[in-house]
Formats: sequence, structure tokens, C-alpha cells
Amino acid sequence: SLVTTGELLTRAAATRTALAAFNIITLEHVEAVVAGAEAAGAPVVLQVSENAVKFRYGRLLPLARAAVAAAERAAVPVALHLDHIQSDALLRQAPDAGFSSVMYDASALPYAENLAATRAAADWAHAQGLWIEAELGQVGGKDGRPALDAHAPGARTDPAEARAFVADSGVDALAVAIGSVHAMTTRTAALDHDLLKRLAAALDVPLVLHGSSGVPDDELRAAVTGGITKVNVGTALNIAMTGAIRGFLAAHPEAVDSRTYLSVGREAMARTVEQLITVLAGTAPA
Ligand code: G3H
Ligand code: ZN
Repeated sequence: SLVTTGELLTRAAATRTALAAFNIITLEHVEAVVAGAEAAGAPVVLQVSENAVKFRYGRLLPLARAAVAAAERAAVPVALHLDHIQSDALLRQAPDAGFSSVMYDASALPYAENLAATRAAADWAHAQGLWIEAELGQVGGKDGRPALDAHAPGARTDPAEARAFVADSGVDALAVAIGSVHAMTTRTAALDHDLLKRLAAALDVPLVLHGSSGVPDDELRAAVTGGITKVNVGTALNIAMTGAIRGFLAAHPEAVDSRTYLSVGREAMARTVEQLITVLAGTAPA
């Protein structure tokens, strides 16, 4: 069923688990995320990034309509979220397209400008009944931007600054920079658990981990224990899909029907979704 991100996050926070949010790009991603969540028996977030909209010829609705239809028919609760939005025009399409939440990303701007832009976005979002996430500190690795040096200003989220940012902007959740990096293809990220602890103590909104594909299972579990409530995963699905398709096509050079390899890619993504949700729900077999 289609539900709101806000209610799923409230439930995740209450049960001290984390809500998994997967970036969808194709219809196969949509179907795989829903199938994986159903197999795990847990709720999930389908999120569409501004970059994914750019890939879809700049149009949100075709993918959004597919996601709404899949969510409505899902055997588990599914919410729709707009991810890494910088365009105000795209932000404003959220309610009509079926999204209950947005991540407004002005994190590359200096503090004062990030705050002003985020506050305006939050005021608008709340007037629409939307839940809004923002980012302070830079997770890095997006759009070819390198991950900042860990000691560079802005590479990590400062707890006192974060507390003021949340209070002054009115956002409902905060993406924090604690050592993960976007688009990693190895699961080798080491998180700053001491910083996470201080952030969790300083803030009373749900904390969001971005760039989670590069974070190993044990680090993810520790992050959930430390106060992360939403875990964003994108690259892991592409690794699964592309690897499975590459293997299938290498083994079947005669294949032409796109369904033969897309189904293999979709199945690989669904297994990845199920595994990650199981880790976050703390139900993974030891
Ligand atoms: O907002 C999306 C996530 O941060 C995805 O990051 O592709 O590195 O898993 P990832
Ligand atoms: Zn992200």
C-alpha cells in the first residue's frame, strides 16, 4: 500500500530500526525494490533523484506513475520520496506526482545560503503536508564531485551547527556526513561512530545515511544502533543489475529478447534489496 515516508520513519524510530530507501531509475528498479521488500516483509521507500529525472528526459511523471501503481499494489507499506532535489520546479511537482517527502539538497552552498534555501523549501513543503529532509556537511562523491578530505571544513557534519540548522530551517530529518561517500563500488567505508553519537545526542530529528552502498553490513548495523533512521541506497542496485546482465549476456551471446537479461538484472536487484532490508531490520541470521 502507498503510505507516507513520515509514518514509516516514525515507526522505524520507535522500533530502533532503520528504514531502507532505494533509488529507482527504471521500471525494473521499481519492481525489484517492491519485490525485495515483500520478500523481507518490511516497508520500503522508493526514491527518485533529480539525476534520475534528468535521465528520464527531464520528466518525473512516467516513473512516478509506475512507482505509485507498484506501491498501491504492494503487500508491504511503500512510500515515495524525491531525492537530492536542487530544482525548485521539480520540488513543486512532488505532491501531484504522489510523493509524501522530499530531500532538498543545498549542501554544496555555504552555510547561510544552505540555511536560507532549505528554510524556504521547508516552509513550502510543510504548507503542502510534505515531510522534508536536508543535508548539512557534504557526503561527497555525487556528480563527479570528489569526497572532501575528512579534515576539510564541511566534510563532516558539526553537531552544534546541525542543531542550529535543524531548529532554524524547520526540516524534519537531516542527512549527515559521517564518513560515507556516494557511488562507492566497494563496501569499505568506515563511519565515524563517535560523531554519529554526538549528532544523535544533539538532534531530535531522524538522521539519514547517504552513500550507503559503500558501507559494510556491520557498519550499517552499528549506524542503526547509533541513531541512523533512514538508509539511502542507490549504487548497490546498479552493481547488482549490471553484474547480473553482464554475466547473462556473456553466457548467452545469442540472446536478443530484452526480457531475458532484464529479468536476471531485476532478480539480482530484488535479492540485494531483501538482504539490505534484513540487515537494517536486525533480523539477519548471525
Ligand atoms: O541519496 C542516495 C544515496 O545517498 C545513494 O548513495 O548510490 O552511494 O548508495 P549510493
Ligand atoms: Zn545521497
